[in-house]
Amino acid sequence: MSEEIVLKTEDLTKHYGGVHALEGANFEMKKGEHVAIMGDNGAGKSTFVRQITGVEQRTRGKVWLYGEEVSFIGPLEAREAGIETVFQTLALADDLDVPDNLFLGREITKWDWLGPFRFLDYKAMRQATLEGLEKTAVKIPNIRNTIRNMSGGQRQCVAIARTATFHSRLTIMDEPTAALGVQETAQVENIIRTLKEAGEPLILISHNMRQVMDLVDRIIVFRRGRICANLDIKSEDISGEDVVGYITGAKTQPEYSDAA
Ligand SMILES: Nc1ncnc2c1ncn2[C@@H]1O[C@H](COP(=O)(O)OP(=O)(O)OP(=O)(O)O)[C@@H](O)[C@H]1O
Ligand SMILES: [Mg+2]
Repeated sequence: MSEEIVLKTEDLTKHYGGVHALEGANFEMKKGEHVAIMGDNGAGKSTFVRQITGVEQRTRGKVWLYGEEVSFIGPLEAREAGIETVFQTLALADDLDVPDNLFLGREITKWDWLGPFRFLDYKAMRQATLEGLEKTAVKIPNIRNTIRNMSGGQRQCVAIARTATFHSRLTIMDEPTAALGVQETAQVENIIRTLKEAGEPLILISHNMRQVMDLVDRIIVFRRGRICANLDIKSEDISGEDVVGYITGAKTQPEYSDAA
Protein backbone atom coordinates (compact mmCIF):
# COMPACT_ATOMS: atom_id res chain seq x y z
CA MET A 1 0.00 0.00 0.00
CA SER A 2 1.14 3.52 -0.71
CA GLU A 3 3.04 5.44 1.95
CA GLU A 4 0.89 8.38 0.92
CA ILE A 5 -2.06 6.83 2.72
CA VAL A 6 -1.78 7.95 6.34
CA LEU A 7 -4.54 5.77 7.69
CA LYS A 8 -6.66 3.05 6.19
CA THR A 9 -9.28 0.89 7.84
CA GLU A 10 -11.02 -2.06 6.28
CA ASP A 11 -14.22 -3.58 7.67
CA LEU A 12 -13.42 -2.07 11.08
CA THR A 13 -16.12 -3.34 13.41
CA LYS A 14 -16.90 -3.21 17.13
CA HIS A 15 -19.76 -4.97 18.86
CA TYR A 16 -20.45 -4.55 22.57
CA GLY A 17 -22.48 -7.68 23.15
CA GLY A 18 -25.54 -7.09 21.01
CA VAL A 19 -24.76 -3.40 20.39
CA HIS A 20 -23.27 -2.91 16.92
CA ALA A 21 -21.48 0.34 17.75
CA LEU A 22 -19.27 0.23 14.64
CA GLU A 23 -19.98 -1.84 11.55
CA GLY A 24 -17.70 -2.40 8.56
CA ALA A 25 -15.95 0.97 8.45
CA ASN A 26 -13.81 1.42 5.33
CA PHE A 27 -11.84 4.62 5.66
CA GLU A 28 -8.80 6.15 4.00
CA MET A 29 -6.98 9.45 4.36
CA LYS A 30 -4.04 10.92 2.47
CA LYS A 31 -0.96 12.76 3.68
CA GLY A 32 -1.70 16.30 4.82
CA GLU A 33 -5.44 15.79 4.75
CA HIS A 34 -7.74 17.12 7.47
CA VAL A 35 -10.87 15.01 7.77
CA ALA A 36 -13.87 15.61 10.04
CA ILE A 37 -16.08 12.87 11.38
CA MET A 38 -19.64 13.93 12.07
CA GLY A 39 -22.76 12.13 13.19
CA ASP A 40 -25.40 12.10 15.91
CA ASN A 41 -24.71 11.10 19.49
CA GLY A 42 -24.08 7.38 19.62
CA ALA A 43 -23.31 7.10 15.89
CA GLY A 44 -20.02 5.32 16.56
CA LYS A 45 -17.46 8.11 16.12
CA SER A 46 -15.58 7.63 19.38
CA THR A 47 -15.82 3.87 19.00
CA PHE A 48 -14.04 4.21 15.65
CA VAL A 49 -11.23 6.18 17.32
CA ARG A 50 -10.94 3.67 20.17
CA GLN A 51 -10.45 0.76 17.76
CA ILE A 52 -7.72 2.61 15.84
CA THR A 53 -5.80 3.73 18.93
CA GLY A 54 -5.89 0.40 20.75
CA VAL A 55 -8.03 1.65 23.64
CA GLU A 56 -10.24 -1.35 22.89
CA GLN A 57 -9.72 -4.49 20.88
CA ARG A 58 -11.81 -4.59 17.72
CA THR A 59 -14.35 -7.28 16.88
CA ARG A 60 -12.93 -7.54 13.35
CA GLY A 61 -11.29 -5.54 10.59
CA LYS A 62 -7.85 -4.20 9.74
CA VAL A 63 -5.97 -0.93 10.26
CA TRP A 64 -2.90 0.39 8.41
CA LEU A 65 -0.76 3.37 9.43
CA TYR A 66 1.41 4.68 6.59
CA GLY A 67 1.04 1.37 4.80
CA GLU A 68 1.98 -0.76 7.76
CA GLU A 69 -0.67 -2.98 9.30
CA VAL A 70 -1.11 -2.11 12.98
CA SER A 71 -3.02 -3.52 15.91
CA PHE A 72 -2.18 -1.55 19.02
CA ILE A 73 -2.61 -3.20 22.38
CA GLY A 74 -3.11 0.14 24.14
CA PRO A 75 -3.18 3.91 23.60
CA LEU A 76 0.44 4.35 24.67
CA GLU A 77 1.56 2.00 21.92
CA ALA A 78 -0.45 4.05 19.40
CA ARG A 79 1.20 7.18 20.75
CA GLU A 80 4.65 5.65 20.36
CA ALA A 81 3.75 4.88 16.74
CA GLY A 82 3.04 8.58 16.21
CA ILE A 83 -0.71 8.92 16.75
CA GLU A 84 -1.44 11.81 19.12
CA THR A 85 -5.03 11.62 20.35
CA VAL A 86 -7.22 13.98 22.34
CA PHE A 87 -9.85 11.59 23.64
CA GLN A 88 -13.40 12.72 24.32
CA THR A 89 -13.14 11.26 27.79
CA LEU A 90 -9.77 12.75 28.49
CA ALA A 91 -6.94 10.36 29.05
CA LEU A 92 -5.01 12.43 31.53
CA ALA A 93 -3.38 11.23 34.71
CA ASP A 94 -5.40 12.82 37.53
CA ASP A 95 -2.63 12.71 40.09
CA LEU A 96 0.07 14.30 37.96
CA ASP A 97 0.60 17.99 37.32
CA VAL A 98 0.46 19.64 33.91
CA PRO A 99 4.09 19.19 32.77
CA ASP A 100 4.06 15.55 33.86
CA ASN A 101 0.91 14.95 31.83
CA LEU A 102 2.33 16.62 28.77
CA PHE A 103 5.57 14.68 28.91
CA LEU A 104 4.24 11.33 30.06
CA GLY A 105 6.37 8.82 28.13
CA ARG A 106 8.37 11.63 26.48
CA GLU A 107 10.37 13.01 29.37
CA ILE A 108 13.20 15.39 28.57
CA THR A 109 16.45 14.28 30.16
CA LYS A 110 19.70 16.10 30.83
CA TRP A 111 23.28 15.13 31.57
CA ASP A 112 22.78 12.03 29.41
CA TRP A 113 26.60 11.77 29.11
CA LEU A 114 26.73 10.86 32.81
CA GLY A 115 25.99 7.26 32.01
CA PRO A 116 23.12 4.91 32.73
CA PHE A 117 21.19 7.25 35.05
CA ARG A 118 18.44 9.43 33.61
CA PHE A 119 17.99 12.92 35.00
CA LEU A 120 14.70 14.55 34.11
CA ASP A 121 15.00 18.14 32.97
CA TYR A 122 12.02 19.63 34.83
CA LYS A 123 12.93 23.19 33.89
CA ALA A 124 12.86 22.42 30.16
CA MET A 125 9.58 20.53 30.54
CA ARG A 126 7.96 23.38 32.49
CA GLN A 127 9.07 25.88 29.86
CA ALA A 128 7.70 23.75 26.99
CA THR A 129 4.47 23.28 28.94
CA LEU A 130 3.97 27.02 29.31
CA GLU A 131 4.61 27.49 25.59
CA GLY A 132 2.12 24.73 24.71
CA LEU A 133 -0.58 26.15 26.97
CA GLU A 134 -0.02 29.63 25.62
CA LYS A 135 -1.09 28.32 22.22
CA THR A 136 -4.45 27.23 23.65
CA ALA A 137 -5.03 30.55 25.49
CA VAL A 138 -6.38 28.71 28.52
CA LYS A 139 -5.47 30.20 31.87
CA ILE A 140 -4.20 27.71 34.37
CA PRO A 141 -3.24 29.46 37.60
CA ASN A 142 -0.54 26.98 38.54
CA ILE A 143 0.73 24.27 36.23
CA ARG A 144 2.12 22.41 39.24
CA ASN A 145 -1.44 21.63 40.34
CA THR A 146 -2.63 18.12 39.67
CA ILE A 147 -5.14 17.59 36.87
CA ARG A 148 -7.71 16.39 39.42
CA ASN A 149 -8.30 19.98 40.56
CA MET A 150 -8.88 21.48 37.14
CA SER A 151 -11.99 22.49 35.25
CA GLY A 152 -13.18 20.52 32.22
CA GLY A 153 -11.97 23.19 29.82
CA GLN A 154 -8.58 23.45 31.47
CA ARG A 155 -8.16 19.68 31.21
CA GLN A 156 -9.15 19.76 27.58
CA CYS A 157 -6.55 22.45 26.89
CA VAL A 158 -3.83 20.43 28.60
CA ALA A 159 -4.62 17.53 26.28
CA ILE A 160 -4.62 19.82 23.25
CA ALA A 161 -1.39 21.51 24.31
CA ARG A 162 0.17 18.06 24.08
CA THR A 163 -0.75 17.81 20.39
CA ALA A 164 0.62 21.30 19.77
CA THR A 165 3.91 20.50 21.48
CA PHE A 166 4.94 17.31 19.71
CA HIS A 167 5.03 16.50 16.03
CA SER A 168 2.88 13.51 15.23
CA ARG A 169 2.27 11.34 12.20
CA LEU A 170 -1.46 11.60 12.80
CA THR A 171 -3.47 13.74 15.22
CA ILE A 172 -6.95 12.70 16.30
CA MET A 173 -9.16 15.10 18.26
CA ASP A 174 -12.50 13.86 19.57
CA GLU A 175 -14.67 16.94 20.22
CA PRO A 176 -11.69 19.03 21.36
CA THR A 177 -13.62 22.26 21.86
CA ALA A 178 -16.83 20.84 23.38
CA ALA A 179 -16.01 22.26 26.82
CA LEU A 180 -14.22 25.43 25.72
CA GLY A 181 -15.15 29.09 25.78
CA VAL A 182 -15.20 31.30 22.70
CA GLN A 183 -11.62 32.52 22.98
CA GLU A 184 -10.15 29.11 23.77
CA THR A 185 -12.13 27.55 20.90
CA ALA A 186 -10.69 30.12 18.49
CA GLN A 187 -7.18 29.33 19.70
CA VAL A 188 -7.65 25.60 19.29
CA GLU A 189 -8.90 26.23 15.77
CA ASN A 190 -5.67 28.14 15.18
CA ILE A 191 -3.69 25.15 16.41
CA ILE A 192 -5.57 23.03 13.88
CA ARG A 193 -4.74 25.50 11.10
CA THR A 194 -1.09 25.35 12.11
CA LEU A 195 -1.15 21.57 11.82
CA LYS A 196 -2.64 21.94 8.35
CA GLU A 197 0.09 24.36 7.27
CA ALA A 198 2.73 22.00 8.63
CA GLY A 199 1.22 19.20 6.54
CA GLU A 200 0.30 17.14 9.61
CA PRO A 201 -2.82 15.04 9.04
CA LEU A 202 -5.79 15.36 11.38
CA ILE A 203 -9.03 13.58 12.17
CA LEU A 204 -11.42 16.00 13.88
CA ILE A 205 -14.62 14.79 15.49
CA SER A 206 -16.97 17.68 16.02
CA HIS A 207 -20.68 18.56 16.18
CA ASN A 208 -19.86 22.17 15.33
CA MET A 209 -20.84 22.68 11.68
CA ARG A 210 -19.21 26.08 11.32
CA GLN A 211 -15.95 24.77 12.72
CA VAL A 212 -15.95 21.74 10.44
CA MET A 213 -16.86 23.72 7.31
CA ASP A 214 -14.12 26.25 8.13
CA LEU A 215 -11.35 23.82 8.89
CA VAL A 216 -11.38 20.53 7.04
CA ASP A 217 -11.03 19.17 3.51
CA ARG A 218 -13.46 16.31 3.80
CA ILE A 219 -16.32 15.13 6.02
CA ILE A 220 -17.11 11.50 6.82
CA VAL A 221 -20.59 11.02 8.25
CA PHE A 222 -21.39 8.19 10.64
CA ARG A 223 -24.92 6.98 11.19
CA ARG A 224 -25.91 4.10 13.45
CA GLY A 225 -22.41 2.66 13.47
CA ARG A 226 -21.84 2.87 9.72
CA ILE A 227 -20.13 5.34 7.44
CA CYS A 228 -22.95 6.80 5.36
CA ALA A 229 -21.31 9.66 3.44
CA ASN A 230 -17.94 10.87 2.23
CA LEU A 231 -18.16 14.57 1.41
CA ASP A 232 -15.38 16.40 -0.38
CA ILE A 233 -16.35 19.88 0.82
CA LYS A 234 -13.31 21.60 -0.74
CA SER A 235 -13.98 20.63 -4.34
CA GLU A 236 -17.74 20.05 -4.33
CA ASP A 237 -20.52 22.49 -3.58
CA ILE A 238 -21.81 21.05 -0.32
CA SER A 239 -23.66 23.17 2.24
CA GLY A 240 -24.00 22.72 5.98
CA GLU A 241 -27.64 21.88 5.34
CA ASP A 242 -26.60 19.04 3.02
CA VAL A 243 -24.33 17.66 5.73
CA VAL A 244 -27.17 17.77 8.26
CA GLY A 245 -29.25 15.83 5.74
CA TYR A 246 -26.69 13.01 5.71
CA ILE A 247 -26.40 13.07 9.51
CA THR A 248 -30.16 12.68 9.98
CA GLY A 249 -30.55 10.18 7.16
CA ALA A 250 -32.72 12.48 5.02
CA LYS A 251 -30.02 12.32 2.34
CA THR A 252 -28.02 9.30 1.22
CA GLN A 253 -25.09 8.72 -1.08
CA PRO A 254 -25.75 5.86 -3.53
CA GLU A 255 -22.46 4.13 -2.67
CA TYR A 256 -23.51 3.91 0.97
CA SER A 257 -27.18 3.15 0.42
CA ASP A 258 -27.03 -0.05 2.50
CA ALA A 259 -26.18 2.16 5.50
CA ALA A 260 -29.54 3.92 5.56
N1 LIG B 1 -18.34 0.21 26.47
C1 LIG B 1 -19.52 0.16 25.85
N2 LIG B 1 -20.40 -0.82 26.11
C2 LIG B 1 -21.59 -0.87 25.48
N3 LIG B 1 -21.99 0.01 24.55
C3 LIG B 1 -21.16 1.01 24.26
C4 LIG B 1 -19.88 1.15 24.87
N4 LIG B 1 -19.27 2.23 24.37
C5 LIG B 1 -20.12 2.75 23.47
N5 LIG B 1 -21.26 2.03 23.40
C6 LIG B 1 -22.40 2.28 22.51
O1 LIG B 1 -21.90 2.34 21.19
C7 LIG B 1 -22.58 3.33 20.45
C8 LIG B 1 -21.59 4.30 19.84
O2 LIG B 1 -21.00 5.07 20.87
P1 LIG B 1 -19.91 6.19 20.57
O3 LIG B 1 -19.37 6.60 21.88
O4 LIG B 1 -18.96 5.68 19.57
O5 LIG B 1 -20.79 7.34 19.94
P2 LIG B 1 -20.33 8.79 19.38
O6 LIG B 1 -20.66 8.82 17.94
O7 LIG B 1 -18.95 9.06 19.78
O8 LIG B 1 -21.36 9.76 20.15
P3 LIG B 1 -21.13 11.22 20.81
O9 LIG B 1 -21.32 12.22 19.72
O10 LIG B 1 -22.24 11.31 21.80
O11 LIG B 1 -19.79 11.26 21.45
C9 LIG B 1 -23.59 3.97 21.39
O12 LIG B 1 -24.85 3.37 21.18
C10 LIG B 1 -23.05 3.61 22.76
O13 LIG B 1 -24.08 3.51 23.69
MG1 LIG C 1 -18.07 10.37 21.03
